Amino acid sequence: MEIQSNFSLKNYNTFGIEANAKQFVAVHSINELKTILEENKNEKKFILGGGSNMLLTKDIDALVIHIDLKGKKTIKEDDDFVWVESQAGETWHDFVLWTIDNNFGGLENMSLIPGNVGTTPVQNIGAYGTEIKDTFVSCEAMNIATQEMKTFDNAECNFGYRESIFKNEVKDQYIITSVIFKLTKRNHKINTSYGDILAELAKNNISEPTLKDVSNAVIAIRQSKLPDPKELGNSGSFFKNPILLKSDFEKIHQKFPEMKFYEVSETEVKVPAGWLIEQTGFKGKRFGDAGVHKNQALVLVNYGNATGQEILAVSKEVQKTVFEKFGIQIEAEVNVI
Ligand code: EPU
Repeated sequence: MEIQSNFSLKNYNTFGIEANAKQFVAVHSINELKTILEENKNEKKFILGGGSNMLLTKDIDALVIHIDLKGKKTIKEDDDFVWVESQAGETWHDFVLWTIDNNFGGLENMSLIPGNVGTTPVQNIGAYGTEIKDTFVSCEAMNIATQEMKTFDNAECNFGYRESIFKNEVKDQYIITSVIFKLTKRNHKINTSYGDILAELAKNNISEPTLKDVSNAVIAIRQSKLPDPKELGNSGSFFKNPILLKSDFEKIHQKFPEMKFYEVSETEVKVPAGWLIEQTGFKGKRFGDAGVHKNQALVLVNYGNATGQEILAVSKEVQKTVFEKFGIQIEAEVNVI
């Protein structure tokens, strides 16, 4: 375990932004993590997982601890379900493919989401009608100050839309080291409720999809809309879809009857931010090396050498323009550092 100084984080963030860490260390076991935390009690620390949900706008004046814990296994099963545990540093998509290869159901709709397993609970990742809260059992986490381990069960995590306790009450206090999911072994709950999936399966004449078929459909949809971070720097959806009170939404909807929306509760409505941004004309626009993706307006991209500040400036312009046109405030989903 070697601490390196002035370490470039360009290959450790999916936006591909050039920024340095004052110090950097990768940890490969719980013991290494404990030692590093004990030995650097008074240092400022920054925890880095897969770097897929952050925008670096400056150098990090801290000890960056990269969580590189590996391993995945079945820990328990009965006739219908299996409990699988993954260490935090596993690549999410590789983990999903492993569950599908084993015919374990529940994660297939979340195929190809960038990032590592350990960060998935932080923002309750989700796609195509499924969120991890639907199969999440618990996670183990180390308290940064005391190095004690704690188990957070599903209820304690307070999951919401791209929300959890780790973004709120215990923000910056814990490092998630492993996660347990409860998946189906048979009678899989195939979820094709999301229109795009049905269309993709129909295109391939699949009427009774397997887990693999759903995963393949999701992969095809994502590849057609979302840029591959290896080819074009990005962090997935940069913004959250805004949730509005129905009473507020109705006033706006009268002015813009073509506005898309989904009911999320009796009193609330979710509006696709991608649609709002597209209406402002930002979709596909490029400003130097920073821009708004041509196929999905929720995604901001780095064409090569954009700085975090340049991408941040585009995001602010987008927020301002959407607000001026619709009176709706869209919030960043990505952590701006
Ligand atoms: N839309 C537009 N223009 C766009 C983008 C979207 O008009 O440029 C419209 C679409 O036509 C559609 C609606 O907006 O009617 C929703 O679009 P889409 O199905 O692409 O989903 P999204 O709401 O834009 C969310 C998640 C994605 C996730 C997809 C699929 C958020 C912030 N984003 O996007 O998650 O993959 O649903 O479930 O909730 C991520 O978080 O990084 C991410 C990619």
